[in-house]
Amino acid sequence: MLEKFQPVPPDPILGLGQLFAADTRGGKIDLGVGVFKDAAGNTPIMSAVKKAEMVLHESQTTKTYKGLGGDEAFRDSMRELVLGDAVPADRVATIQTPGGTGAIRQLYEAIKKINGEATLWLSDPTWPSHIGIARHMGMPMRSYSYFDGASSSVDFDAMMHDLADVKPQDVVMLHGCCHNPTGANLDAAQWKAVTDLLLARGAIPFVDIAYQGFGDGLDADAAGLRAMAARVPEMLIAASCSKNFGLYRDRVGCAMAICENAAQHDVVSRNLAVLNRLNYSFAPDHGAALVAIILGDRDLRAEWETELGEMRDTMLSIRQSLADELRRQCNTDRFDFIAAHRGMFSRLGLDKDSVEALRDQHAMYVVGDSRINIAGLSGGRHEPFAAAVAKVLAI
Ligand SMILES: Cc1ncc(COP(=O)(O)O)c(C=O)c1O
Repeated sequence: MLEKFQPVPPDPILGLGQLFAADTRGGKIDLGVGVFKDAAGNTPIMSAVKKAEMVLHESQTTKTYKGLGGDEAFRDSMRELVLGDAVPADRVATIQTPGGTGAIRQLYEAIKKINGEATLWLSDPTWPSHIGIARHMGMPMRSYSYFDGASSSVDFDAMMHDLADVKPQDVVMLHGCCHNPTGANLDAAQWKAVTDLLLARGAIPFVDIAYQGFGDGLDADAAGLRAMAARVPEMLIAASCSKNFGLYRDRVGCAMAICENAAQHDVVSRNLAVLNRLNYSFAPDHGAALVAIILGDRDLRAEWETELGEMRDTMLSIRQSLADELRRQCNTDRFDFIAAHRGMFSRLGLDKDSVEALRDQHAMYVVGDSRINIAGLSGGRHEPFAAAVAKVLAI
């Protein structure tokens, strides 16, 4: 049986990390996988997380199973973190999942189960797993225009033009903030216009929020999502704690389904919990327990928010320094957009040859579509990177 498996090509982002690890050149820079890095190039454990681990260590008396939907305190605090008071709590069914990817997978499962005909609309470009998981599950998919490579900004007219084709009950996926891979985001008026369109078409929004707090702040990053949630009858949300709590490997996230009314809440919750049962039974507990401790404790929450703010400020200042340095070294304003983008990523707009030259000649590892992880340039690494880009563009 197993001989029927075909060789799998390396994952474009994870494969890049392996090439980077094997590279013995000094001064190499990894701008691939989306993890925060400090000035020393490390991805530290947040101090609020370390403290929560101590609390958990002292207070936990059993490792027995919890409910299929996960930890209640975690679910409640995540609902509040993401949605604020945009929607009454009794309309929001939430399950704990293994990371944001687990939430996406479970919500895709729910869509498929309820309406296998529904088309899933994804931004072009989007995070590759949005496409990969849907393809693996055989879901009907279409993409909508999102990014204008020439101006490196959202092509909103083209987006609205494409979304005009959305059918009732189709599902339209949006990035809550910090769009991956482009770093270009919708403004408040654009969120409103998309909401109007989805309401008019009878389609369901599905917001993936994996970087809350990495753009402009916890509330600012959720503002578009919340304004939408306050107006639509139904909405799906996948939230990840991998980045904003630095809990990448602990696999912490949740799937939320906003129901039209509170009467539907229990049935929806139970169905989502059954999906957990069918896929992996119980979501991992450790990281979710830490998030619940942090969000439920005034001091730890304040400490976490301060640390998150520091990470955000680091990325914002790298954005400005990189834009300035590229302008200086390349003698062009074509990279000025980097300072205006938000989140962990921007797409530089370099061609394949330039991306390869950055890797082969300068040991700078950029994803094939020229996406860079901004945080990979902390500790002054934006300067050698800008110099390498200038050399590559001069060839
Ligand atoms: C857009 C987007 N959504 C969701 C995720 C999910 O991350 P995780 O499964 O690690 O929580 C990521 C991670 O890179 C992402 O970039």
